[in-house]
Amino acid sequence: MSKAIGVMDSGIGGLTVAKEIMHQLPNENIVYVGDTARCPYGPRPSSEVKEYTWEMARFLYNQQIKMLVIACNTATAVVLEEIQTAFDIPVIGVISPGARSAVKYTKNDRIGILGTSGTIKSKAYETSLSHLRPSIETFPLACPKFVPLVESGEHAGSMAKKIIAETLVQLKNTNIDTLILGCTHYPLLQPIIEQYLGPSITVISSGDETAREVSAILAYRNELNARHEKKENRFYTTGSSKIFGQVARQWLQNEELNIQHVRLPR
Ligand code: SIN
Repeated sequence: MSKAIGVMDSGIGGLTVAKEIMHQLPNENIVYVGDTARCPYGPRPSSEVKEYTWEMARFLYNQQIKMLVIACNTATAVVLEEIQTAFDIPVIGVISPGARSAVKYTKNDRIGILGTSGTIKSKAYETSLSHLRPSIETFPLACPKFVPLVESGEHAGSMAKKIIAETLVQLKNTNIDTLILGCTHYPLLQPIIEQYLGPSITVISSGDETAREVSAILAYRNELNARHEKKENRFYTTGSSKIFGQVARQWLQNEELNIQHVRLPR
């Protein structure tokens, strides 16, 4: 069988990126790992995020993947360059694609950034946005309650509405016209976020642009799968495969997912 694209995240959030890759590249195989047992990464010290991300990266690399996507903003901010340097396959993160997408949409150059404490502290989006367009003004906001909401499967209920309203009120009076969902878990909250913000603010998630980058890199390297090749997506979680499976089946609209529990080798 042809080589797969490796996708990894601290938990289930990276499925929002995997979904876009599956949509844009339906002939590709995905092997996904979510470190649900140790999620969230956002509040952890960088040294821990680095160690855990490396464990996932090595696990996927040993599955003979042809490309690796770090579908976690916190991990991208801390360790992307290090893994890019160490591996002999293309490795991409989600911060540059998200920033590129936001720059395409903003008209007034005022961009809000939602992320975990780790991502916001790293200022990785600010750096990326200012390289793309120095005139951009940013309004970063850490949202530590969002990831636990998504991981517990409560991303659509009244609790989600309450937490989102309490958090996003801080963006009032910023006059942003674009908001980056700087965490791959947040697209699962996107309908409620959009409802709260109203139509004047464009909400950006990096999945779409990341999938485009995967496609461009594999096309350039002549490594895209031909139409007839056999497909098999595999999903690994370090936590409960039951909870992971519930969200994954619902989000990917597929009852037949191959989901396994994994213990990552140190
Ligand atoms: C987290 O594990 O805290 C969130 C993952 C992300 O930053 O995308």
